[in-house]
Amino acid sequence: MKFSEQRYSNMQYRRCGESGVLLPAISLGLWHNFGDVDDVKVYRKTLHTAFDNGITHFDLANNYGPPPGSAEVNFGKILHTDFKAHRDELIISTKAGYTMWPGPYGDWGSKKYLVSSLDQSLKRMKLDYVDIFYHHRPDPNTPLEETMTALDLIVRQGKALYVGISNYRAPEAKKAIAMLRKLGTPCLIHQPKYSMFERWVEGGLLDLLERKGVGCIPFSPLAQGLLTSKYLKGIPKNSRAFKAHGFLQKEAITKERVQQIQQLNELAKQRGQTLAQMALAWLLRDERITSVLVGASSATQLLDSLKCLNNIKFDQVELDAIEMILKES
Ligand SMILES: NC(=O)c1ccc[n+]([C@@H]2O[C@H](COP(=O)([O-])OP(=O)(O)OC[C@H]3O[C@@H](n4cnc5c(N)ncnc54)[C@H](OP(=O)(O)O)[C@@H]3O)[C@@H](O)[C@H]2O)c1
Repeated sequence: MKFSEQRYSNMQYRRCGESGVLLPAISLGLWHNFGDVDDVKVYRKTLHTAFDNGITHFDLANNYGPPPGSAEVNFGKILHTDFKAHRDELIISTKAGYTMWPGPYGDWGSKKYLVSSLDQSLKRMKLDYVDIFYHHRPDPNTPLEETMTALDLIVRQGKALYVGISNYRAPEAKKAIAMLRKLGTPCLIHQPKYSMFERWVEGGLLDLLERKGVGCIPFSPLAQGLLTSKYLKGIPKNSRAFKAHGFLQKEAITKERVQQIQQLNELAKQRGQTLAQMALAWLLRDERITSVLVGASSATQLLDSLKCLNNIKFDQVELDAIEMILKES
């Protein structure tokens, strides 16, 4: 497989916290659109388009599919054929933390679960190691020390180069970051949900990550497609909200939400952007954001999202207008 020689020239790469790793401003997530229910021709093209445009980071998790595990299997197949010569140009991440197999050892944050789950992920992707391994969500019942020790162990075993945490609120993130540092395996990155419609990270987490030199990669930056022009005129048949296995609930698309999306869409037009581009640019204007982790059900969508990089600056009038619209929710 031949990829563009120019693939690194149009992407911006940002340093991940205080680490040696640079991530592309746009990364691609494989939560939806890469499972056995999806069309291999379509997602293969999405992966090619991503890499051809400088996206070097692909994000997975044990449970991505459906069925759970199939996104890793499908990605692994394409990796070993089309990307065979490029493994060292890629940052591949996976995670464990949600339900993966029955019984008491297939969920949450025990050492037993994390170590076994990563072994399974490596087999599914036919990899010796992943670049980043995340604990996917905090576990209120397992001592944080056990979970962090498991992450440290995994790095020492050579099964992951770096570790991260996801969905941890600021106080628990602070403890996890301190423990990992003490263990000698610094936390590389935090993966929180963050978009114009979901802003809890602004209440302390972003400041913490900056202070501690940890990167930040927001997931669902388009609010699963809500922050695009997709739902302006109802729910299209091939959309995430329409699909039975899609995580976006039809109930989230209220009349008020659509009105808000319409107003944001008008503002995006004034900036010469699509709404998707404006929503991503709005996150990337903050230098504390290392990369935005988008999903895409087609290469066309990804190409549209990538164009956000042409303008990630906002003037105060635009920022105020966005705040006014967002306040209406
Ligand atoms: N750590 C965690 O707990 C966690 C949780 C969720 C996600 N994630 C990660 O974050 C990644 C991204 O999440 P996400 O898929 O929810 O992200 P998203 O970027 O908010 O939503 C992606 C969806 O938006 C639509 N879309 C994307 N680009 C578009 C464009 N330019 N124009 C119109 N529609 C567009 C598509 O919807 P249609 O499919 O309807 O076409 C696409 O599937 C995941 O793949 C995963 O890696 C992590």
